Amino acid sequence: MDVQSDHNKTQGEQTTFSTNYDQDAVWENGLRDFFEYRDLGVVEATGGRVKAHILRVRDGGDPSDLHATGLHVHKLDFQMIYILKGWIKFIYEIPEKSGKTRKEEHTFGPGDCCVQPPEIVHNELKCSDDLELLEITSPAKYKTAAISS
Ligand SMILES: [Fe+2]
Repeated sequence: MDVQSDHNKTQGEQTTFSTNYDQDAVWENGLRDFFEYRDLGVVEATGGRVKAHILRVRDGGDPSDLHATGLHVHKLDFQMIYILKGWIKFIYEIPEKSGKTRKEEHTFGPGDCCVQPPEIVHNELKCSDDLELLEITSPAKYKTAAISS
């Protein structure tokens, strides 16, 4: 038995071979109106266990609408972002061992990465018009809930 078969056995579900070429990129609507999203084929390849997509500001989109998203949480197991172009600013409420939370603002630019733990309270505050970021989540589909401050 080869290594690939053993690995898939432990994972339960198989991941299929997948490619997604830049020249065939399809940009679609998603969670936020002012962004557009390019699925990288990972949802289909993993049977919905993982999503990897690129977000960018839609042509004519107004990223100042980020203010309207408000504090929120995503109900998922894993989420990370990696900035490809431009910048984006977040505020996080980070849980401490004491049970309290501390607020931190972070501005991420090209090459920066952030893992956002499940249900961390956060808000996207601002971004540049030329923002492009890679987001990876598991599972692919999850709920987002607004938090009243
Ligand atoms: Fe978010």
